[in-house]
Amino acid sequence: MNFADSEILVSILKDQYDTTQDYAQADLILVNTCSIRDHAEQRVFNRLKEFAALKKKRPGMKLGLVGCMAERLKEQLLDSDLDIDLVVGPDAYRSLPRLLSQVEAGQKGIDTLLSEDETYEDILPVRLGTNRISAFISIMRGCQNYCSYCVVPYTRGRERSRDAGTIVDEARSLVDQGYKEVTLLGQNVNSYKDGDVNFAELMRRVASVSPSLRIRFSTSHPKDLSDELIAVMAAYPNICRSIHLPVQSGSSVMLKKMNRKYDREWYLDRIRAIRKAMPDCGISTDIIAGFCGETEEDHKQTLSLMEEVGYDFAFMFKYSERPGTFASRHYPDDIPEEVKLRRLNEIINLQQHLSHESNKRDVGKRFEILVEGESKKNKAQYFGRNSQNKVVVFDNPVLPDGSFRYQVGDYAVAEVTGCTPATLLGRTL
Ligand code: 5AD
Ligand code: SF4
Repeated sequence: MNFADSEILVSILKDQYDTTQDYAQADLILVNTCSIRDHAEQRVFNRLKEFAALKKKRPGMKLGLVGCMAERLKEQLLDSDLDIDLVVGPDAYRSLPRLLSQVEAGQKGIDTLLSEDETYEDILPVRLGTNRISAFISIMRGCQNYCSYCVVPYTRGRERSRDAGTIVDEARSLVDQGYKEVTLLGQNVNSYKDGDVNFAELMRRVASVSPSLRIRFSTSHPKDLSDELIAVMAAYPNICRSIHLPVQSGSSVMLKKMNRKYDREWYLDRIRAIRKAMPDCGISTDIIAGFCGETEEDHKQTLSLMEEVGYDFAFMFKYSERPGTFASRHYPDDIPEEVKLRRLNEIINLQQHLSHESNKRDVGKRFEILVEGESKKNKAQYFGRNSQNKVVVFDNPVLPDGSFRYQVGDYAVAEVTGCTPATLLGRTL
């Protein structure tokens, strides 16, 4: 989401600034930030120290902090000794040119107003991705699910959906520029709503733009993953067979306390519905270890749910208390650090095993892959992704004129000949 927001920021500033790959040359550094866990914020503070040191050497340089940390910490950031000139929250990016002239005049600039309707739908993002075949399209902003551990509703404000027509137009324009894949983005894409257009209908419309455009989306909340959406996914071959469905915990007691609004049975029912409609669908998740009051039995339930689902991939985290959330106000953060860490490690080890098993099951299968680039390890090898979102590395055949058979952006059919825990190895057919 921040990557897509940075593309909006660059667009808003494009008449005043070019981008550079070398921050030591920059006249303006904007740090786009995340508040989801304390660790994310600490990393930003470390970077800010680096930038502040650079600023001492280059007095004209300006430093701004934007995104969720700006929203959460507001004036405190300007008062700190980090020498920040500018603080701008996620809904205030249109104020940047005005705030920057203020900064040029020697003042500080701050805008952290949240909005009920800002979607930046009229702003054409400047694409910052390097492969030029895959792009993000932000379809909604904000979240009001109020999961008890989560800071996002406070930093990104109320949920709002972007006009469907502008989303379809953006997808069409990307196809015209040669893009082959779009990922529709939102904190909870399943609750997308623009008049009569719900998320399933939006997917129909975007998938109809071009049969050679792959469609992905992130993230879905299990409570609103509808049968209609599953049916639409199954009906369009260019909608990728891949769902990221954050479970957070396998224990219904924890899920209730997390205010996730579903229980273990509901979640497993959604998994069954996905598998029934699309037996080959890739499924990934997010898991939090050591939430408030989590018992050894709750933790075991998470491990058993992971095995039951057989996830292909997971993002796994230790619970990090966030100031202002319901959990921080009502539940003590009572799981000792070493217990959190041990549980997280058990979760990570199990997932490594499950990912490897999932890859082994793919050996011998054939997949259509979208070629994304050269393999980092070996220049004669390229890699692509299959519809399930797994990386497939393959030897790129050399043609008589010395060029490679497959270029970035081509579709290829590959047979999987082997695997590592993280990657499939394939042979193009
Ligand atoms: N502590 C740990 N992980 C969190 N996440 C969200 N809030 C927290 C928190 N306070 C995780 C959830 C979510 C993902 C984006 O980040 O798993 O799905
Ligand atoms: Fe946070 Fe829950 Fe909203 Fe996801 S759905 S952003 S975890 S409050």
